[in-house]
Amino acid sequence: MSRVSRRDLLVSGLAISASSLVSRSAWGRSAALLSAYAGPPSAEALAAVAPREHLLFDFGWKFTFGNGADPSKDLGFGFGQGDFAKTGDFEFAKAKFDDSKWRTLNLPHDWAVELPFVNDKELESHGFKPLGRRNPETSVGWYRRAFDISESDKGRRIWVEFDGAFRDVIVFVNGCFIGRNDNGYAPFRFDLTDFLAYGKKNYIVARVDASFGDGWFYEGAGIYRHVWLTKTDAVYLGKWESYVRSEVNGNSAALTLGTVVRNDGDKAESAAVKWQIVDATGKTVATAQAPAQSVAADGSATFNATARLANAALWSVETPNLYQAIVTVDGGGKTRDAERVSFGVRTTKFTADKGFFLNGKPVKIMGTCNHQDHAGVGAAVPDALQWFRLAVLREMGGNAVRTSHNIPTPEWVEACDRMGMMMMCETRQMSSNAEGMAQLEAMVKRYRNSPSIIMWSIGNEEGQMQSGMAEQGARVGAEMVRLCHELDPTRVVSAAVNGNNRQGVSDALDIIGFNYALKLPDGYHKDFPNRPIYGSETSSAIGTRGVYSSDKLRNTVNSYDGVVPWGETAEEWWKFYGTREWLAGGFAWTGFDYRGEPTPYGWPSINSQFGIVDMCGYPKDNYYYYRAWWGKDPVVHVFPHWNWDGREGDEISVWVYSNLDEVELFLNGKSLGSQKVPQLGHVGWKVRYEPGSIEARGSRDGKVVLTDKRETTGAAGSIRLSADRNEINADGEDVVVIKVEGLDKEGRLVPIANDHIGFKVTGNGVLIGVGNGDPNCQESDKALKRSLFNGLAQVIVQSTKEPGEFQVEAHKDGWEGPNLTPATITIKSKQVEMRPAVA
Ligand code: GAL
Repeated sequence: MSRVSRRDLLVSGLAISASSLVSRSAWGRSAALLSAYAGPPSAEALAAVAPREHLLFDFGWKFTFGNGADPSKDLGFGFGQGDFAKTGDFEFAKAKFDDSKWRTLNLPHDWAVELPFVNDKELESHGFKPLGRRNPETSVGWYRRAFDISESDKGRRIWVEFDGAFRDVIVFVNGCFIGRNDNGYAPFRFDLTDFLAYGKKNYIVARVDASFGDGWFYEGAGIYRHVWLTKTDAVYLGKWESYVRSEVNGNSAALTLGTVVRNDGDKAESAAVKWQIVDATGKTVATAQAPAQSVAADGSATFNATARLANAALWSVETPNLYQAIVTVDGGGKTRDAERVSFGVRTTKFTADKGFFLNGKPVKIMGTCNHQDHAGVGAAVPDALQWFRLAVLREMGGNAVRTSHNIPTPEWVEACDRMGMMMMCETRQMSSNAEGMAQLEAMVKRYRNSPSIIMWSIGNEEGQMQSGMAEQGARVGAEMVRLCHELDPTRVVSAAVNGNNRQGVSDALDIIGFNYALKLPDGYHKDFPNRPIYGSETSSAIGTRGVYSSDKLRNTVNSYDGVVPWGETAEEWWKFYGTREWLAGGFAWTGFDYRGEPTPYGWPSINSQFGIVDMCGYPKDNYYYYRAWWGKDPVVHVFPHWNWDGREGDEISVWVYSNLDEVELFLNGKSLGSQKVPQLGHVGWKVRYEPGSIEARGSRDGKVVLTDKRETTGAAGSIRLSADRNEINADGEDVVVIKVEGLDKEGRLVPIANDHIGFKVTGNGVLIGVGNGDPNCQESDKALKRSLFNGLAQVIVQSTKEPGEFQVEAHKDGWEGPNLTPATITIKSKQVEMRPAVA
C-alpha cells in the first residue's frame, strides 16, 4: 500500500527538475569485455562429473493455460474432492493424455511477458500484466513433457531440479503427485526415483500458479529458469553440501573442505571422499582426502579435509581467478558420485573506520541494485543475456551488484564470479518461519562457494520488523543471521534497512545497510563507531532515455537530475558515499530499468524509470556520470541532443559529465567558455539554441584529450544493425543482441527518431524478443516489429541447434513518413558441443 500512495504523492507534486535528451550514438561497450566473457556460462553443465549425469531439461515442453478459479478449465484439477486421494490417479500426467493441442516451447519461459497490458491499477507492480487471483485465466500455466528413462537407470537416484519458477509449482510424474514449491525464487528439486517407469516413457507435468506474488515489482510467470534431470548412484554427494573455504596466508592459502555423503541404498556403505583442486589452466594444484566412513542405509555422513594452495591466484575485481574442486566419493571399489565446485580465493573485510577491503586493499563498492527482467524476454533471461547485462554495468565502471530483492539466477552469479563483479546476495522472504529459513538455507548453500559474493542480505525494508514489531524483528533477524553464520562462517550478514537502524533486525547484523536517507549514516557512525556501514540502496534517480523535459501528459522524466522525493541524484549520493572513508560504498537503485513500478507515473507507463540504463541496456545520460567517476578512462559526455527544431533562440540547458580537469563548450565552433570540472560533479551552460552542433572539449593538464559532440541531424533515412557478437553457439540457447538505429543521410543517429521497424529472421535463428527502452511503449515484446525509441530499438535472436548462420533484416514497417533504407546483418552460429540434455 505504501508504495502506491508514495507514487501518487509524487505525481501530484511532480518534483522533477529541468529538461533533457540522448546519449551518444556509439554504445560504448568494449568488444574486449564481451569477447573475453561472452558465451553461455558453463558451470551448471560442468558441475556433473561421471558417473553423475546432469541433463538440461529445457527443450521440447508442451504448455497450456489452466485456470485459477474454474477447475473445468484447469484440466479438471480440483473439480471434486479426491484429486490427492490415491497415488497415481492424475490422468494428465499419464501416457493417454492428449497434449497435441498444447503449444510447444523451450524453457526458460515467462508467459507474463507474452500477455497484453491491462489498465488496472492493482496490476501496476506486475507491469500491468494480468496476473493474480482476479485474473484466473492467465495466472495458471501447465507444462508437460514426455521423457525416456532407460532400464539401466534402475538403482540410481533421479531428481528433477528447478533453478526457480514463478511461483507455486505442483509437480506430477506418471500420474503421481510428487511435490510442491511455494515461492518464486528459491531452487527446488524432487526425487523421482520411486515413480519412474524404467525402460519406458515417462510423463512429467508441472502446474505453475502465479496467482500470488512475492514482491512489488515485475516477477514474470512460469518456469523462467533452467530445469535439470540429475542422475546419481544411490550413494551420492548431498545437494550443495560441498564447500571450499579459504584462508590466505602470505602467498599461499589454506583450504577447508567439507561435504556430506548420503546413502539412499538399503544397506550401509563404506565411502571415502577425495578432492582434486584444479587451477584456471586445468592443472591439478592440490589434493586432499577424507578417510572412509560407514554411511548407514538411509543416512548420511560428513566428510572434511584440508589442503594448501601454494602461490594462490587471488580472485579480485581486476583478476577474477577461479579454481575448481572436483569432489569424488568412492565406495565398494568404485567411484559412486562426483561433482565440480567452482570457487575463488580472496579475503574480504568490512571495517567501521576505513570501509571495505578486498585482499587487504581498500575498495569502494560501486554497485547497482537490479531486478532480473530484460526487454523482450521478461524474467526468462537466456544465459548469454545475463552476461550481456553484467557487461553493461561493468563497462559503466560498476564493480558490484545487489540481487534485489531475491535469490538470483545461477548464471547471474556465475557471470559475476567470472567477470569480477562483487555481489550482495539477497533472499526474498525475511522471516524465521520454516519457509523463510528454507529459502535462506537454499541460497547460502547454493552460492557459498562463489567468490563474487561479499555479503548475504536477509531482507529489504521490512518496516514492521524494524519499528512496529522491532522486538520480534530482533528475534527474526538473529535467527536468520545465525543460520547464515552456521552455513557460511566466512561472510558478513546484512539487510537493506530504510529508516531506523538502531533496533529490530539491525541488532543482529554484522554490517549496517542504509537505504536512502543520507541524513542518517553520520549520526549512526558517531553513536556506533564500531559498526561498518554501507549504502544498501541509494539514489532512485529517474529519467527517460533521450528525453529532456518532464511531462505529466507523456509520462516522461527529464534526463538531467530527475529524482523521487525519497531519493538522491547520482551526484548527491556518490558525493556522500564516495567521499567518506568509513563508508564502504553502496548500491544505486537501479542499474537497469525493470517492468513494474512505473514511478513517478502510472498507466500507460509499464516499466520503471529508475535505471541508469534502460530496459535494453542503452545508457541514459546518467550512465556517463557513473562512468566518469567510477570508471578509469577519460570521459566527456555532452547532452542534450541538438535537434530542437522550432526552438531557435530558446535557452537550452547543456550539461557535460567528465572526469577531466576542464571542459570548454563550443556552439557551431564558437567557444562558450571553459569550466573547471568539480570533483564528483558536472559542468553546465545555458545555451541559446541554433541548429548545428554543440561540442565539449575536455582537457587534462591544459591539453585537450577528449571531445564529444551532438549535431542537429536530418530525419531518419536508413537503418543500421549491429550485434554484440558476430558469432554465437548453435546450441538452441545462445543469443545475439542486436542494436537497431535510425540514421540520417549522413549516417548520424537520429536522437528523436521513432520510426516503426519490421524484422525478418531467416536461417538458423529465432527472434525471441524486441524492445526499445521506452517506459511507455505497449507494443508487443514478441512481435516481429518495434518502433524506435529516440533512435534505438533492440532485437534478441536465439540460435537453433543447426549450425550455419542467420540473417536479421530490418525495414520500415508501415506508418507515414519517408521510407527507410533497410538493413541486414548476418550472424554466424557455430557448431559446439551441446550441454548434455534430456532427449
Ligand atoms: C525502495 C525499494 C525498492 C524500490 C525503490 C523505488 O524503497 O526497496 O524495491 O521500490 O524503493 O524507489
